[in-house]
This record gives sequence, structure tokens and C-alpha cells, in this order.
Amino acid sequence: MNILVMHGPNLNLLGTREPEVYGSVTLDDINRWLADYAAEHGAALRTFQSNHEGALIDAIHAARDWADGIIINPGAYTHTSIALRDAIAAVALPAIEVHLSNVAAREPFRHTSLIAPVCLGQISGLGWLGYRLALEALLARETE
Ligand code: DQA
Repeated sequence: MNILVMHGPNLNLLGTREPEVYGSVTLDDINRWLADYAAEHGAALRTFQSNHEGALIDAIHAARDWADGIIINPGAYTHTSIALRDAIAAVALPAIEVHLSNVAAREPFRHTSLIAPVCLGQISGLGWLGYRLALEALLARETE
């Protein structure tokens, strides 16, 4: 199984970005832990981070050719990007939305996700563990 893990804007700054909200682990840490977990379970993982909406959309389109599923933390594009939502719907790959922080407990503008309706599900507020649970869920789906 091939999985694309996508990180949206400002997530490259994890570790130093508002650590009281997002924790102190870095994006490299998260990517490494996920890659190790995937390898242990016979899956292959590619990771991608961009601060640009179009680059994220291009990566979703390219995933059509090789990926079996997508894990995406769209960052602030969660709340604004119809284009990202349309890209996920267009490729019709199973996708899981992940947020490090509990977006439901934060500012009202973070309570709406334009992405969640085109995903299998959403995991929010569990820190980096949310990514691993998303990976587990995609792997479990395949063996069902
Ligand atoms: C986030 C939550 C978003 O509201 C925010 O814009 C982010 C990070 C999270 O992982 O908690 O950039 O997606």
C-alpha cells in the first residue's frame, strides 16, 4: 500500500511554531516516525509539505498514479480552500484529514472544514499521534 502524507502551510515550522498549541515535535520527527511505522507494516510512504495551495493540489493530482490513500493536514487551507477539497474529490482516493490541535476548541473560524466532507474521516486534537492513527486506519481498511 502506498500512502501520501501531506502537510499544508506553516507546518514546516513545527517545533518552534506556537509550541503551546502544536507541541514541540518537528515535521521531520513526524515524517520519520510515520515512515518507520509504515515500513513495519509493509507500506510505502511519501511525505510532502508546501505553503502553496497550487503545489498541494498538484501533489494530489500526481498521487492518482501511485497512491492508495492520502493523509492530509491542510493547515489553514482546511477552512478556506474549495480548490483543495475539489482536488481530493476529483482523485477519489481515500483521504483522512488530520489536525494536531483540537480545532473544535479553538477560534470559530477553525470550526468549519471544507475538506472533511470529501474525506473518510477527521482526527483532531491528538497531536502527532493523529497522523499515526490515520495511517493505521488506511492500512486496516486495506485488509478488511
Ligand atoms: C492545524 C489547525 C489549523 O486551523 C491551522 O491553521 C494550522 C494547523 C492543526 O494541525 O492543528 O495550520 O491544521
